[in-house]
Amino acid sequence: MLTLLQSQKKFWDVSAEGYVLFLDENFEQSPRLKEVAEQFYPHINDILKKHLFGGKKNDLYVLSAPHNDGLIQLIFVGIGKPEKTWHRDLEMYRRSLARALQTLKKYSIPTASVEIPDHTRYKISEQELIRQTAIIAHMANYTFDSYKSDKKAEWSGNITLVTKSDVTDSLNEGIIIGKAINRTRSWADLPGNIATPKYMSNEAQKIAKEHNLAITVFGREKALELGMGGFCAVDSGSHQDGQFVALEYKNGGNKPTIALVGKGITFDTGGVSLKPANSMTGMKFDMSGAAAVISTMAAIAELKLPLNVVGVTPFVENMPGGNAARQDDIITHMNGVTSEIKNTDAEGRLILADALVYAEKNYNPEIIIDIATLTGACVYALGHFYTGLMTQDDELAAELIQRGQLIGERLASLPLDDDYKEAIKSDVADIGNTGSSSYSAGTITAAFYLSNFVKKARWAHLDVAGSAHDVPGINYTQKGSSGAGVRLFIEFLKQRA
Ligand code: BES
Ligand code: ZN
Ligand code: ZN
Repeated sequence: MLTLLQSQKKFWDVSAEGYVLFLDENFEQSPRLKEVAEQFYPHINDILKKHLFGGKKNDLYVLSAPHNDGLIQLIFVGIGKPEKTWHRDLEMYRRSLARALQTLKKYSIPTASVEIPDHTRYKISEQELIRQTAIIAHMANYTFDSYKSDKKAEWSGNITLVTKSDVTDSLNEGIIIGKAINRTRSWADLPGNIATPKYMSNEAQKIAKEHNLAITVFGREKALELGMGGFCAVDSGSHQDGQFVALEYKNGGNKPTIALVGKGITFDTGGVSLKPANSMTGMKFDMSGAAAVISTMAAIAELKLPLNVVGVTPFVENMPGGNAARQDDIITHMNGVTSEIKNTDAEGRLILADALVYAEKNYNPEIIIDIATLTGACVYALGHFYTGLMTQDDELAAELIQRGQLIGERLASLPLDDDYKEAIKSDVADIGNTGSSSYSAGTITAAFYLSNFVKKARWAHLDVAGSAHDVPGINYTQKGSSGAGVRLFIEFLKQRA
């Protein structure tokens, strides 16, 4: 458990066992360090230098000091020279912060006084920096060990953030967002035998109850009735019943609705177009998009944003059972568009197609954003650090990229020119579910498949195949789910509120 508090007391007046000092490369001028010299170590500058602490980005040094009949730990954390762009610099702060927090945890330091760096360096307000500090502190503290018998003893950290102004609201907001991200991660990290479609629809029902959201849940029968040929085709191969879930948050009077649509494949074997074993490992994460949507819905309700938002999440398992869809099958989606299944492993677009039609038909949204671990090609193109963003709406793209830069979710725009559209044609149906190999660009052609199912709304598509899990080298996400999309969605929605 992590408890975050704020205080406008002096840094040293907060009673704690750890004192975290963020220092840049000019640390010798730091007034706080002068205080360390006066109170504890007159030669602190030399000590730090001797132990190769230069205030650089990866530098960290812990020093004990006697204080009031006991010992305190001084934790010096480097934040380095400012980067050329503010958002890159802010990202470096997030990582320094995560390093500080993990140090407190590692040395089992239960209480700490933390002075965040000067916010003007990052060109954001103190409130904003505190909000992000709270988010990252939670993310850095996440572990997925509920199925480990020898759990590491839980660290109950009590951290006081020393600030100039009262930041209670921002702190609380950051805590809500941080917890929402971790909830997404704890769902996405669950394997397919536990987080089945039914399990996820139960979780959504709990969320609805807790936050007083309207919820619609149905399975195969109703989906057939509605003509959801894509949902049903994928559902046919599994013994687990698919669950279509829609959550509604109404707190925006007559403001237009924003719809979030998430891919919820609880496990992706590829279906009869079976994946090779090595590519199948990790396919429990194929519901990361839907997990992000559901927990965003809970968070915006907690934040009481004055908006109307719906979250539409089809949960299905893609298995090669006896009733499974085949290659060459022709299905009809909810809007009447027919599709040739060229590869049953391109299943995400099949369920999303019906979900997009459902969202537009039932809620008439002004904006639809879908989020999906949709293509392996996206991982090849962008790796794990960037989410692929595709839209023909330049303004919406700019808005999403900018929100992402502020909050620490990196989006890379991929082109969505109509030239690619030809790639998904079929000889026997309106469209085919894979792009023709002569066009390559599998991430973009997948987006074009989806484009057939949004008619009126402004629409953007996020491919999180790389960014949703196993992002290497980032200390506040580490192994497993990263919770991609949650920060971005909440930020986007908050700015629209
Ligand atoms: N869930 C996968 C995409 C994926 C791959 C996500 C790797 C995360 C990591 C998706 O359903 C899929 O299998 N896509 C196919 C599409 C192809 C058959 C056109 C792919 O990318 O190979
Ligand atoms: Zn697949
Ligand atoms: Zn998939």
